[in-house]
Amino acid sequence: MSADFSSRWAWAEVHTGLIQHNVAIVAERVAPAKVWAVVKANAYGHGAIPVANAALNAGAEGLCVALMDEGVALRRAGITAPILVLSEQPAELSELLVGYELTATVTTTRGVAALANAASAAEKVARVHVKVDTGMHRVGVAPRETLSLIRFMQSFDSVLLEGVYTHFAVADSPEHPANADQLRLFNEVLAELAAHSIEPPLVHAANSAAALANPDSRFSMVRLGIAMYGLLPGDGVKELCRGLIPALALKSRVSAVRWIEAGEAVSYGLRRPVSAATLIATVPLGYADGVPRALGETTVGVLLNGVPRQFAGTITMDQLMIDCGTDSSVMVGDEVVLIGRQGEHVVTADEWASATGTIGYEIVCGISSRIGRRYQ
Ligand SMILES: Cc1ncc(COP(=O)(O)O)c(C=O)c1O
Repeated sequence: MSADFSSRWAWAEVHTGLIQHNVAIVAERVAPAKVWAVVKANAYGHGAIPVANAALNAGAEGLCVALMDEGVALRRAGITAPILVLSEQPAELSELLVGYELTATVTTTRGVAALANAASAAEKVARVHVKVDTGMHRVGVAPRETLSLIRFMQSFDSVLLEGVYTHFAVADSPEHPANADQLRLFNEVLAELAAHSIEPPLVHAANSAAALANPDSRFSMVRLGIAMYGLLPGDGVKELCRGLIPALALKSRVSAVRWIEAGEAVSYGLRRPVSAATLIATVPLGYADGVPRALGETTVGVLLNGVPRQFAGTITMDQLMIDCGTDSSVMVGDEVVLIGRQGEHVVTADEWASATGTIGYEIVCGISSRIGRRYQ
């Protein structure tokens, strides 16, 4: 097991073998479409470089990031696979995009011109994918303007159109009519381009949910994010996610124990007095590490000595407390599993998410940089 430097009694374990397992499952399901692994946001908190390497080893053909800086970090780590930056970057970054051989997303003529100039100054060719806004309304060129944007691009020798893509707004609800509407619009754009002999080698639309739910959305490649990490894109595709296994565990150790008496309470607010003498275990991580403060108000617990246990009071910034009832066997140093398996019991990031009104994505992205990642 290798580790980022981490001396804390609180750490995350990332099982790269499970990342590979999840990529392989999806790759088999979506073939002949290819898989590009989405490793933005430090691979959804799992660690961009180890995850990127694992995904590529499992057959992913390329990587996707949100920011140029994320792409640069992968290149500096020696990764030579194609890396697509998923939104148009500020024009002043064009030189670096080209220099690091990152594949740029473009949605505006300004973006095209900036890349063309940077590439021709460097005597290189900028690889680009055009992103079309078929209904997500976040970024992207309007469908009716796509042809003219590509025509403009074709006026520069230093820009190579490698891909055209779009992104679904409700892919995690496969029956939602907006999916079909977006797909129809996208197919119309592709048909218009084809009528002008523009047939880019890479056409893509699907995130995890769409890749699993809708074969018509797969085109030549899928952009695989959350499912690669073994988490659910949403309840609407739960069944389709069978076989995927969460790759991240969040663990800690008991740092202190104490008995409190009936009528006493724990932590800020002293909000939950106990009705009998209770052993309280203190665990040295808190909301600054990505354990939502709201989790302390839910029935989601932690696993300690093979037993699910509840939070004893308000989760604090660096520490949280566990109600161990009358179990006097709990000792300083005992392992606590916050996310992951201990014995027969499992707690998942998806459970944290549904208990606190968010999505698994936010939970794993929120595990802060104070938590060292250890790789297995
Ligand atoms: C443009 C784009 N494609 C693909 C993905 C991956 O989505 P998912 O994690 O649901 O697979 C994302 C993630 O937000 C995205 O923004």
